[in-house]
Amino acid sequence: MVKKFYVTTTIYYVNDEPHLGSAYTTLAGDIIARYYRQKLGADNVFFLTGTDEHGQKIQQTADEKEMLPLELANKVSKQFKNAWKLLNINYDFFIRTTNPDHKKIVSTLLQKIYDAGYIYEGVYKGLYCIGCERFLTENDLINNKCPLHPNKSPVYQEEKNYFIKLKELVKKEVLPRIESGEYNILPKKRKNEIVSRIKEGVEDVSISREGVSWGIPLPWDKKQTVYVWVDALTNYYSATRFIAKKRKFWPADLHLIGKDILWFHSVIWQAMLIAANIKLPNTIFAHGFFTVNGQKMSKSLGNVIRPKELIDKYGVDGTRYLLISACTFGSDGNISLKDFDTKYNADLANGLGNLVSRVSKLCENLNKKIDIDVSKHRYDKEFIKLIENYKFDKALKIIWDKISRTDKFINENEPWKLKGCELENVLTSAVSSILNISLCLKPFLPETSEKITQIFTNPKIKSANPLFPRL
Ligand code: MSP
Repeated sequence: MVKKFYVTTTIYYVNDEPHLGSAYTTLAGDIIARYYRQKLGADNVFFLTGTDEHGQKIQQTADEKEMLPLELANKVSKQFKNAWKLLNINYDFFIRTTNPDHKKIVSTLLQKIYDAGYIYEGVYKGLYCIGCERFLTENDLINNKCPLHPNKSPVYQEEKNYFIKLKELVKKEVLPRIESGEYNILPKKRKNEIVSRIKEGVEDVSISREGVSWGIPLPWDKKQTVYVWVDALTNYYSATRFIAKKRKFWPADLHLIGKDILWFHSVIWQAMLIAANIKLPNTIFAHGFFTVNGQKMSKSLGNVIRPKELIDKYGVDGTRYLLISACTFGSDGNISLKDFDTKYNADLANGLGNLVSRVSKLCENLNKKIDIDVSKHRYDKEFIKLIENYKFDKALKIIWDKISRTDKFINENEPWKLKGCELENVLTSAVSSILNISLCLKPFLPETSEKITQIFTNPKIKSANPLFPRL
């Protein structure tokens, strides 16, 4: 059987345009999808991203802007698509939860869970954070506020809701699968956090809302709408049902998310799938937050940076590099434009860019074809292991170590003093290393990799313009 790889990102709320936080998840998805397309062939990879368009937060934002929620969703989902185009994100499908096909599958899935006896009617009494679209307990609060939305007060709600028997499902099915690793949560510290939180006690959760009209009606009680998280989580599955030829991709191989929404993905989503007798995804990876001066970058805190600001300054691949190497994938990382400038100049303008300019100039002077069979170039085992375990910073370190070694090799061999065969041998080695570097760069910096390969596989290698002009 041919292997397949299905990677998803979280789907983004349409209350605001993308910022570097949402760009981070999507870029990581793109890198993984590009890597697996090379390994398994494009037909065997499915990369899904999209927008989360229902619920109270979107309804409220639309009201404030005097727009209809769907108008807002149409506008902002376009902004997401544009931002991903600018960042050269090559997704296979962009899902929107207002898509009628998705809505049908959400209804069918919920009806199935209801028929299986896992849903009952009750009353929800308690606090709700509209920013997170989530019910809060006293333990979640810091100074009586949601820690992620300290400038908004949670609202008290009391309404008829339908609940899923989360407590029972988690104890019997979800916890054993998380503990045994059958359902894999990465990084490991996040798995430990989820396991201890489950052991502290799990309550049943509401899967519907009475007072929110902007959502999918519950199939058995049309006065209620589906809770926006239940609607949104189902996107990962629904995409594989209604898009032609995508059925084989379920279960997902990897859900990429931020650490703030791990509970929904690792506990509620699993419970829903178990209740509906659907296979569970394989792995969930929760990355950290981009922070600015130690605070999470977010619209509500007013400290966001938009991807376009970086692209205008560092170019597309410069931005991709700076974002993905900003911190270890899985940990938080502080974003500082000053540090980005320094890193851009050191690693891209001086490191990679300078090596390419230098060697291409020497090859132009040699004026002879350098024959290297790139089809024989492969990733080395260590690099494969790092990428397949989402250790992007370490994989990039391998590439930048190769760049330094190639630079050193040139300095030591002083090709500018050589002639004939000796010169040709030194340049052949250098070009071979550069083409190998270019292969490794492919998932990370696709345009740059393409440019480098074209420069050095040309029968007449010409001195190249700087790939990354110094700032
Ligand atoms: N719509 C929900 C997800 C539903 S998935 C079934 C949501 N949307 S969001 O727009 O608020 O956030 C989307 C993603 O962006 C989350 O994974 C979140 O962790 C990530 N980020 C938002 N701000 C971030 C940073 N400052 N840094 C890194 N990622 C963060 O939640």
